[in-house]
Amino acid sequence: MAKVTLDMSMSLDGFIAGPNIGVERPMGKGGERLHEWLFNPSASEVDAAVEREMSATTGAVVLGRRTFDVGVGLWGDVPFPVPCFVLTHEDREEIVKKSGTLTFVTDGIESALQRARAAAGEKDVRLMGANIAQQFLRAGLLDEIQINLVLVLLGDGIRLFDNLGTEQTALERTRVIESPGVTHIRFGVVKKAK
Ligand SMILES: NC(=O)c1ccc[n+]([C@@H]2O[C@H](COP(=O)([O-])OP(=O)(O)OC[C@H]3O[C@@H](n4cnc5c(N)ncnc54)[C@H](OP(=O)(O)O)[C@@H]3O)[C@@H](O)[C@H]2O)c1
Repeated sequence: MAKVTLDMSMSLDGFIAGPNIGVERPMGKGGERLHEWLFNPSASEVDAAVEREMSATTGAVVLGRRTFDVGVGLWGDVPFPVPCFVLTHEDREEIVKKSGTLTFVTDGIESALQRARAAAGEKDVRLMGANIAQQFLRAGLLDEIQINLVLVLLGDGIRLFDNLGTEQTALERTRVIESPGVTHIRFGVVKKAK
């Protein structure tokens, strides 16, 4: 079955975007620093290989409405060339882009995941957005986290690991890849006994 994965560029102080995100500044104030490795892959072959792997293993995407709103103009397409499911409380018509579709899902994370799994086949379901990632983590639906740790302290913005309550989540480190500017650390989420 498809793995549910989260791949996030993060500052050392835990932010995945700076403050005041918007269409003009999808990663918030100063947050574009986190994605320099993605948008300038020629800077490091290590980072470029991580980016290629991410694309090759993605079979479907579940994204939050805020990531969609601020990102869709910048992408000019879908974020990955696969079926994408946008979690939102506002029903909307499906959008067909050059390399994939954006389907709006209003009946919760399980429903979005079911549809994404069906679309992904053997490949991974990739999550995009901190808020939705927190819900998947709380619900025990996330299998793998890759943190692309960037050499910066952002100071303010959107934290990845917010709103998780007080329950512990055990992790196992399964891979570390280093480039000059980014440490790509992969963790498996240890499933709680039911
Ligand atoms: N650093 C990275 O690698 C990375 C990767 C991806 C995104 N980002 C950044 O992350 C930021 C956005 O993340 P975010 O955490 O603020 O928001 P998000 O997770 O992208 O979206 C949250 C929104 O999704 C909708 N939603 C969430 N759960 C839902 C549910 N169960 N049912 C229905 N709708 C639901 C709600 O929108 P409604 O108002 O429609 O209800 C909610 O406000 C952007 O700046 C983006 O650029 C960074």
